This record gives sequence, structure tokens and C-alpha cells, in this order.
Amino acid sequence: MPAAGSAPVCAADIGWRNRVHCEDALQGLARIPDGSIDLLIADPPYGLGKDYGNDSDKLDTEAYLRWTEQWIDAALPKLKANGSLYIFLTWRYSPEIFVMLKQRMTMLNEIVWDRRVPSMGGTTRRYSSVHDTIGFFARAKDYYFDLDAIRIPYDAETKKARSRSIFVGAKWLEMGYNPKDVWSVSRLHREHKERADHPTQKPLEIVERMIKASCPPGGVVLDPFMGSGTTAVAARRCGRDFVGFELNADYCRLIAQRLDALALVPMPEDVGETPADVAATNVVKKVKATRAKAKRKAKVVKNTEETKAEANEQVSG
Ligand SMILES: C[S@@+](CC[C@H](N)C(=O)[O-])C[C@H]1O[C@@H](n2cnc3c(N)ncnc32)[C@H](O)[C@@H]1O
Repeated sequence: MPAAGSAPVCAADIGWRNRVHCEDALQGLARIPDGSIDLLIADPPYGLGKDYGNDSDKLDTEAYLRWTEQWIDAALPKLKANGSLYIFLTWRYSPEIFVMLKQRMTMLNEIVWDRRVPSMGGTTRRYSSVHDTIGFFARAKDYYFDLDAIRIPYDAETKKARSRSIFVGAKWLEMGYNPKDVWSVSRLHREHKERADHPTQKPLEIVERMIKASCPPGGVVLDPFMGSGTTAVAARRCGRDFVGFELNADYCRLIAQRLDALALVPMPEDVGETPADVAATNVVKKVKATRAKAKRKAKVVKNTEETKAEANEQVSG
């Protein structure tokens, strides 16, 4: 089990993969080999004054942006040539940070995470902000991206509307559609079953989508600001490795607990398949079954027509 705990772990001594190191990311990143990471998921303090049991979210604008540039320059060399980055931000600093990143990488998307905040109260002198801004960047043109792993199945109504024989077994209909750049996923409110004791915990659904699309099976995901360990948990659930850092020792213990709880559930590698593999196999099975059904139906229709024709011949004969 990964060594996430109150005592800092020295990566140089015991290897750096599948561990959350309880230390400052700037310090720890120096020990990760350059060019070893498939995917970087960063959910840094947003510069909004949140209490993470430390002062990390209480810097003034200038210091915050200086610190951001520092960790970006420490983290990016760790990516493989075909690696990519997702960064969670809000509208407050995304303009400045996107400009910083665009000088170093290619921007692929600005994803809007609609947190599905219910309509109650909110600000009165401007519009209530209910989304996070996620930047998606790649190092090079041939970045890894597995669209089929994250397709969204069409609902029953859409499929029914496309039930004419020309659509039967159509790949696009069976495989589902590609996610758009607005992701509507409920935030983890206090009663949510996924919720751990962290003020800005992200939903697994979001982080797992990033991992399935942008990290190959067996690859490694780096998260410099682990918080409650969502990236580590998501990576394990998707059959990928992880590495990360977290300053707050209480959160490091929380991460260890979340990973321990996962150990009780069979992991994809235990059964020899990742969830993406299972999903892909299911889609293929479904396409085959639908085609076989269509073939059987066509055969029945043909037989019926032949029988009718024979009967007619007999009648007319
Ligand atoms: C926005 S939260 C991450 C939440 C996480 N994505 C989750 O789902 O739980 C940012 C975290 O970064 C940690 N942090 C802040 N500065 C850090 C640093 N220099 N090194 C490592 N961790 C840091 C904070 O303690 C906080 O838990």
C-alpha cells in the first residue's frame, strides 16, 4: 500500500511510484525523473483564502502567481513528450495562468465544470459563480488521447429514434458520443457518499474521465496537490500508477485511509482488465449481439416472404 502517512517519505530511498509524499511539492518534484509522467493533474490552491490547515491559499496576487510559475516550471519537465496536463482553476486566476501555460504548452480546451450548485441566495451585485475552469494542455501534437475510453452512451430515447435498420450496429450509436467541454457533475456536498473531510475534494467522475482519456493503461499520473487523494484513488480504480504530494499531514492520513479502503475492492489488474477494457469489450459484445439480432430478423423476414411466395405459387398452380 502506498506510504501516505504523517511521516514524510523519501522517494530516493524507496522509489517514487504509487506513493503520496507528505511534503512540499516544490521540494518533492525535484526527485521525480524528468520525462517519466504520462499525465499531470493539478488542483492547486486557487488563491481564494481557503483553509487547508496551512497558509498555502493565503498568498497575495503577486506572490500567488510567482509561486504558480515556480511549481509549473518544476512539474512540466516531468511529463513525457506525449504527456498532457489538466489544471483546475477558477475565473479569478485562470486568465493569467492560462497565458503562462500557453507560453510552454499547446492549449487544447477550456473545460467548464458546472458544479450543479442549487439556486439559493448567492451574490447580489454580480452573477453567482457556479463553475470551475479546467485547462487542458499538451506538450506536443502527438499527445495521448483515448476518446473511445470516455464516450458517453446515448440514452434509450435517442437509440430508439435511430432504430431503423441502417442504424443497427452503427459504431457511433453503439460507442456513444464524445464529451463536450461543459461537464455537469455535482459537487461533493456534505451528504454526498464520496465526500471525505477535505474542503475542495473533487468528484472521482471528473478525475477518472481525465485519466482514462489522457493516461495509457499502466501509465503514471502525477498530482502535486493531492488534498484528499482523489487522483490517487482514481488512478488505482483505472489501473494506472500515481505519485503526488500533500503538505497537510491530516490529509496524508486521509489519503492512506481512502487507498486502504480501495484495497478491499478487487483492482482491475487483479482481474487482468482495466475498467476501460471491460467497457470496450462490452461495447464490442453489444455491437455483435445487435448485428446478430438484425441478421436473425432479416432471415425470418426472408423465410416468411419465401413461404408466402411458395404458398402463392401453390394457390395459383
Ligand atoms: C485544491 S486542494 C486539492 C484537492 C484534491 N484535488 C482533492 O480532490 O481532494 C489543494 C491541496 O494542496 C495542498 N498544498 C498546498 N500547497 C502545497 C504544496 N506546496 N505542496 C503540496 N501540497 C500543497 C493543500 O494542503 C490542499 O490540500
